[in-house]
Amino acid sequence: MKKSRTRNIPSCFRLTAPGALVIVLALGACGDDDDILEPRPPAADNGNGNGEEEQETPVPESEFWDDDTEATQRAQALLDQMTLVQKVDMMHGEFNPNYGFFNAPITEIGIPPMTMADGPVGVRVANPEANEQQATLMPAPIALGATWDRELAREYGTLIGAEADLTGHNVLLAPVVDIIRVPQWGRAFETYSEDPLLTGVLGAESVLGIQSNPVVAALKHYLAYAQETRRLLESNVVVDERTLQEIYVRPFAIVQRDGRPGAVMCGFNQINGDFACENEFILGEILRGQLDFAGWVLSDFGATFSSLPSLEAGLDQEMPGNTGGALPIPCYYCEPLLEAVQNGTVSEDRIDESVLRILRPWIALGGFDNPPEPEPLPEEEHGDLARTIAEQAVVLLKNDDLLPFGDDITSIAVFGADADNVVAGGGSALVIPTYTVSPLEAIRARAGEGVDVRYHPGNDPLTSAALLPGPEPIPSGFLRAPDGEHGLRAQYFLNQEFSGEPELDRTDPYAAINGGFFLFEGFTVASPAFPELPQTLNGDLSIRWTGELTVPADGVYEFVLVSRGTGRLFLDGEPVVETAPGDPDEIVETRAEVPLEQGDTVDLRVEYVNDARTEDRDVGPQFKLSWMPPTRVISPRSTEAARLAAESDVAVIVVRDYSSEGGDRTSLRLPFGQEELIQEVAEANPQTVVVTTTGGAVNSAAWDDAVPAILQAWYGGQEQGNAIARVLFGDVNPSGRLPISVPMDEESTPVGIPERFPGAGTNQVFSETIFVGYRGHAEFDLEPRYAFGHGLSYTEFRYDGLRVSRTPAGMEEQYPLQVTVTVQNTGRVAGTETVQVYVGNLPADVPTAPIALAGFERVTLDPGERRAVTVNLERNSLSYWDTVSDRWVTPAGDVPILVGSSSADIRLRGTGTLPQQEGEE
Ligand code: BGC
Repeated sequence: MKKSRTRNIPSCFRLTAPGALVIVLALGACGDDDDILEPRPPAADNGNGNGEEEQETPVPESEFWDDDTEATQRAQALLDQMTLVQKVDMMHGEFNPNYGFFNAPITEIGIPPMTMADGPVGVRVANPEANEQQATLMPAPIALGATWDRELAREYGTLIGAEADLTGHNVLLAPVVDIIRVPQWGRAFETYSEDPLLTGVLGAESVLGIQSNPVVAALKHYLAYAQETRRLLESNVVVDERTLQEIYVRPFAIVQRDGRPGAVMCGFNQINGDFACENEFILGEILRGQLDFAGWVLSDFGATFSSLPSLEAGLDQEMPGNTGGALPIPCYYCEPLLEAVQNGTVSEDRIDESVLRILRPWIALGGFDNPPEPEPLPEEEHGDLARTIAEQAVVLLKNDDLLPFGDDITSIAVFGADADNVVAGGGSALVIPTYTVSPLEAIRARAGEGVDVRYHPGNDPLTSAALLPGPEPIPSGFLRAPDGEHGLRAQYFLNQEFSGEPELDRTDPYAAINGGFFLFEGFTVASPAFPELPQTLNGDLSIRWTGELTVPADGVYEFVLVSRGTGRLFLDGEPVVETAPGDPDEIVETRAEVPLEQGDTVDLRVEYVNDARTEDRDVGPQFKLSWMPPTRVISPRSTEAARLAAESDVAVIVVRDYSSEGGDRTSLRLPFGQEELIQEVAEANPQTVVVTTTGGAVNSAAWDDAVPAILQAWYGGQEQGNAIARVLFGDVNPSGRLPISVPMDEESTPVGIPERFPGAGTNQVFSETIFVGYRGHAEFDLEPRYAFGHGLSYTEFRYDGLRVSRTPAGMEEQYPLQVTVTVQNTGRVAGTETVQVYVGNLPADVPTAPIALAGFERVTLDPGERRAVTVNLERNSLSYWDTVSDRWVTPAGDVPILVGSSSADIRLRGTGTLPQQEGEE
């Protein structure tokens, strides 16, 4: 099988898994109207229900790379010509300062360089020669999760695969199919959902899309990688086998079954005492044995901790490998591995096995015949798809008759420190966009000349310091720097003594820093209102902030130093509070109470020294000056915003969180004055809509009741602004559905006890077992604020006519049951509904979830239109992992079938009967 350089999959045809019937349901131009949405065969696509037509097409024998015998022969022939040194070299990366991480070509035998780029939010272009390192910044995968749309997942994958190729790469480190177990997880935005089925289905489509280009998809992070806190400190996931299989292995299994990634990346964490990259059970027994994965396993960057145990467990390639001292990590697969073969500890056959596993998918997927050469990107076309996905991803959480905006609106006030920016997640997933459209720009453009659109930031900008614990910083409006600006003069010295010329001398809105991973060049998300800090600040560092505080109210103020290292506060030259360097593994909060009088101006000096360095490479200088005023004081920025809101017809507040690899959120509340901004604006103008541009769930307890409308817009990518504006004005009827549960608060989640998150010592104890996300909310009676699957529309849908039946012969192996319902659009505009089918407790002797997603379909309906929708239910949603027989078991008997618009909005209930399986009692 040779891959051509064709990058686009025609929208009417989709490849399916081998042996499946293909029902092609065409979109728009491809077909006529029909009123039945047919069941979905494996990995096929039903489209959006937008005028479907069905036909049957014979399936090519196999489209998967691992059936390509010619590629295997070519790989074997190359292997036969390789020297031992060349083979071992292929088993680890090389750091090339001009390129990032890659493997050198072996030109004499025709092996091209292996060139990797990070995903999954688009291509993080490694090659400085390519397109100024720009690529399309896509909506974050969690946004794609909110579309519940297989076709868009395929198109997303196809686009990022094409861009990987066009920017000179042949391996893309994407997609991520980790489960969102912890709502605070800093990398929730990089994956799809808290549900294994939804995650696996979208992941498989994404892999098929990526690998429709001459690019290998590296699926990550195998396995049970679920939080950032202490991820580099030997963190150990304590998990039972059943939970591991049902929740964490399952998405990888679906992707392997339906998408066949060429590579899998093992993660940093241990699983029950063995590092993922040297864990025989998960690599050998599960991935290669049970899942039949034939590609290669590469380690996450710095996640290899040994040579022989890793090799024995099945790790094929260590990344980044030989960094030439660029990173302080050893290379276990460099000389140590070579020596082990030379002295007979390791057989060359074992080395050959790994090299073959690398060569086979690489050749079969076209990497040898189509070496990537940088070419310009079709920026506009790709931007259009990014916008479509961002639009489909917006979840209308609530709407009391405010949206969409009508023609009668003459003025709009827009707020949010980053409403004039595009918000993205930080870390290795950060992409340099080809262009951006901010919400403010897009609202202005869409509203047109006749509408007065005015903007005020309303709050101080966020940095990674928003992840620090403790109260909020002093709002800049109460501070004045010596240059007359609001804020404080900040002098950053590259020594511990505040001596010499500062590295940086500028005015910052507040006194706070959170360095380490968040200062790594190219990994940081900065706001134009708080420009990036240099990576050099991660070493010897002292900072002095100076300015004046104008006291807003009489009373006793609590000043809090949140610090890892020495911190000091002086008011009018007098020392007020000091934090000693202390334990490097702890952030300390030190408080002082100071009586102050309204209107007084106090000289304020804050100092910090980075003198408590921890072993944790993710963590660097951490400091924040916070305060607790004696009464509620409103920051000047919120007051000004409220004034503007009162003069406008409607207000749009764009709020955000700070999500990034390298750290988890300490709170799900909106940081740095955003809650107050919402409260003040909503009080001044009840016609207020909040748009949350966040990497995951937000705790809206403090303001939810105060606003009539909330749009969850995620990190929407470079076209985020247009997507938001088009939903606000009703050009797009929102159809996103939550791929996560939004909890009431941080405690009311299935992982709301410390041993579960952030863990006890090095252990993350997965004692909630299979009750993750909405399964746990239901099992533990934790009512979410917004349930998994929730999302409103500008229209309404009625469900009736539930039928549950056995699937037609030939499909029962994968889909034992089939559900049909009729959905009608009862409103006045066209809209898309996602029909969700859940199963209740299984007729089993083991505890099972009270509710678990078993299938879903999207259907687009015109006003008044009715359509029968058929959903096939996945066997493993009707099964449990039996730890005695080590396999999935589908128990015979009756199972509740729940059909609805969300996990909390069940419209129809029925019963399915699971037949006795052969060989079962
Ligand atoms: C991340 C991976 C990423 C790798 C290379 C690691 O820190 O966990 O997701 O692919 O870096 O940038």
